[in-house]
Amino acid sequence: MIILKTEEQIQRMREAGMILAALHKEIAKIIKPGISTMEIDRFVEEYLEARGAYPEQKGYQGYEYATCASINDEICHGFPRHEKLKEGDVVTIDMVVNVDGWLADSAWTYPVGNISEDAQRLLDVTKKSLYLGIEQAVIGNRLGDIGHAIQSYVESNGFSVVRDFVGHGIGQDMHEDPQVLHYGTPGRGQRLVEGMVMTIEPMINMGGYQMKLDDNGWTARTVDGSLSAQYEHTIAITKDGPIILTDQDAVE
Ligand code: MF3
Ligand code: CO
Repeated sequence: MIILKTEEQIQRMREAGMILAALHKEIAKIIKPGISTMEIDRFVEEYLEARGAYPEQKGYQGYEYATCASINDEICHGFPRHEKLKEGDVVTIDMVVNVDGWLADSAWTYPVGNISEDAQRLLDVTKKSLYLGIEQAVIGNRLGDIGHAIQSYVESNGFSVVRDFVGHGIGQDMHEDPQVLHYGTPGRGQRLVEGMVMTIEPMINMGGYQMKLDDNGWTARTVDGSLSAQYEHTIAITKDGPIILTDQDAVE
């Protein structure tokens, strides 16, 4: 069942989203060779606590950290760790922020120092695919329009769309209906209506889309060892078009 949100509820989610967007911009400043993802995780916890917000992932189905930190061939749900990031790594930081019970979810892939041209192209294509998906998130379109926009752009650039993880409705729960696939057929799937709030979060691999799960039962990585990137926003569908609730351009 899809839980539609009122304007007031969307506004409350935007408050969580703006804290999350500002936090991503702070992370961008501190990520460099020599820092560890565990240090970033600590920074996130302190940043949120100081603002009366809670890292919703911590404690979610037994997950122990404020962030997911997925390095290089890790697709998602990487555990923060003490090992230092190295020049040339790419790392996706994924966070869900809770402000007074209302949530926002956003992931961003960061280059660590100088990265290869190929890796930079993966990041650029993945980010652009997210925005092409968002463009389709208008009343009257269907979920398949979002998936198709992402998939066709990504595949025309020679990369692949991960199938095993999808975007999702979000509100007072992290995962609500509907599932938002990052591949699909135009004109197919759930029709988009005013008040839907969902994430779009394409995970894009340089090689094949297949993934395998680590022994920890959480971390997904590419089967072929190729790099993976992800950009995620929480968006609301409104009469005025999609509103990006986690927009980093909307904060200092
Ligand atoms: N933020 C992730 C998502 O986009 C969820 C991570 S799973 C968790 O759905 F357990 F770590 F929270
Ligand atoms: Co999400």
